[in-house]
Amino acid sequence: MSLTIPEIELAVAADAERIAAMSRDYIESGLLWSWVPARVLRAIGDRSTNVAVVRGHRSLVGFGIMHYADECAHLALLAVHPVHRNRGLGSRVLAWLEKPARVAGIARIDVEARADNPPAIEFYRRNGFEEAGVVAGYYQGRIDAVRLQKPLVSPPNDLQR
Ligand SMILES: CC(C)(COP(=O)(O)OP(=O)(O)OC[C@H]1O[C@@H](n2cnc3c(N)ncnc32)[C@H](O)[C@@H]1OP(=O)(O)O)[C@@H](O)C(=O)NCCC(=O)NCCS
Repeated sequence: MSLTIPEIELAVAADAERIAAMSRDYIESGLLWSWVPARVLRAIGDRSTNVAVVRGHRSLVGFGIMHYADECAHLALLAVHPVHRNRGLGSRVLAWLEKPARVAGIARIDVEARADNPPAIEFYRRNGFEEAGVVAGYYQGRIDAVRLQKPLVSPPNDLQR
């Protein structure tokens, strides 16, 4: 049996509909659908944002969207198709999106996870994020968010003293 490890690559415009549908089904369930195809398309075209995808035989199996600013990067969305979860794909997409932030000297990655989604919070903890507080009603005034942060660089030794 051959084992193929799927490649991670930048999304193209034709991926927008599928990414938006995955956001609706796996991330925004129970909320108004905010990551509609047009919004995903804008993210794909935005120079300060990377939209990463993992392609399966027939369709996308995972994706992530990260926005890069001067000091911080913000992970906007991350999802893996349920059939492909717990095989390390989510962690690989996250690491792929983190790499340009490290190269650019960005100090921290921020993410919000739904407070009603403990598996996602655990996923981020295992990937080096620490909880930084709760934002009440962050999701359309209905669901709280747990804010998590991951430091990417330590200050030089002489500044730590
Ligand atoms: C969060 C998500 C992207 C992780 O993707 P993944 O490919 O399963 O992630 P990995 O295989 O790299 O890592 C799995 C880790 O997640 C955590 N995890 C996943 N499901 C879990 C569960 N039901 N209970 C507890 N921890 C869980 C574990 O820490 C697990 O680590 P382990 O392999 O050491 O046990 C995926 O579960 C998903 O798409 N969830 C729905 C969408 C979502 O919640 N996105 C995040 C908020 S934007």
